[in-house]
Amino acid sequence: MNDTMEILTINNLSIDYGGQKSVVKNVNMSVNPQEIIGIVGESGSGKSTLIRAVLGLLPIGGRVSDGEIIFKGRNLLDYSKQEWRELRGNRIAMIFQNSGAALNPTRKIGSQFIESIQCHFESSKAEAYAKAIDMLGKMRLPDAAGIMNSYTFQLSGGMKQRVAIAMAMTMEPELLLADEPTSALDVTIQAQVVRQMMDLRKQFKTSIIIVTHNMGVASYMSDKIGVMRQGEFVEWGTRTQVINHPQHEYTLKLLSAIPELGGRRLV
Ligand SMILES: Nc1ncnc2c1ncn2[C@@H]1O[C@H](COP(=O)(O)OP(=O)(O)OP(=O)(O)O)[C@@H](O)[C@H]1O
Ligand SMILES: [Mg+2]
Repeated sequence: MNDTMEILTINNLSIDYGGQKSVVKNVNMSVNPQEIIGIVGESGSGKSTLIRAVLGLLPIGGRVSDGEIIFKGRNLLDYSKQEWRELRGNRIAMIFQNSGAALNPTRKIGSQFIESIQCHFESSKAEAYAKAIDMLGKMRLPDAAGIMNSYTFQLSGGMKQRVAIAMAMTMEPELLLADEPTSALDVTIQAQVVRQMMDLRKQFKTSIIIVTHNMGVASYMSDKIGVMRQGEFVEWGTRTQVINHPQHEYTLKLLSAIPELGGRRLV
């Protein structure tokens, strides 16, 4: 398998929640190794549904009615439950908008983090601890040792979210799916986390699909951008194509309303 091969190819994917209406309609997209894809679009346009399908984690009632999701040459829709389980968190990881809230409040961060590392890598407790500290440092969380020794209630929302992002990245997934990972964070932290995710891509050669409302974040991070509206991609292209030569009126609208990131406009 060579390095230039697409890591993920989605062909004609349609998804519904039991009704007649597809909430994801005939979507085509591809992700190359180490590429960052930004998906933007209004609320309800199908962004979360699309990326959850890649992880086989559609909400109850959700069903792929048509199409293929090819990950490294195999259609994920043919995977057994066991194969999905092995894939998740291992080769494909996901960060949710409020992943920080999913941390266990009754256990210290350190014990959760070490356990999750030991589930994925053959390692001693000391090795896992060192790995966790290293990744917390990369998230520029001050006092990583102090964080490992904390309970979630002792950390701010932004810190918990960065811990969750660190935990996902520590798995060194080949593909990271991020659903509004930074929108709950305040803008300065948002900019910092975005830059950290880009650093991590460089270091671990991870491909990233990031869903965001914020066209500024998408255009800052992404190699390619897809714009979704009512379940369809109305725009798909390289960042330059989409930012400089948008084909769709809706993309123009998003571009004219770019919020600032970390106190400055990014495009
Ligand atoms: N569990 C569900 N059951 C039924 N319909 C759902 C479910 N989840 C989402 N939908 C519907 O599917 C469509 C797409 O929703 P989705 O959550 O994928 O949009 P989104 O682009 O992620 O929106 P947001 O930006 O608000 O997160 C919407 O019409 C929504 O109402
Ligand atoms: Mg969503």
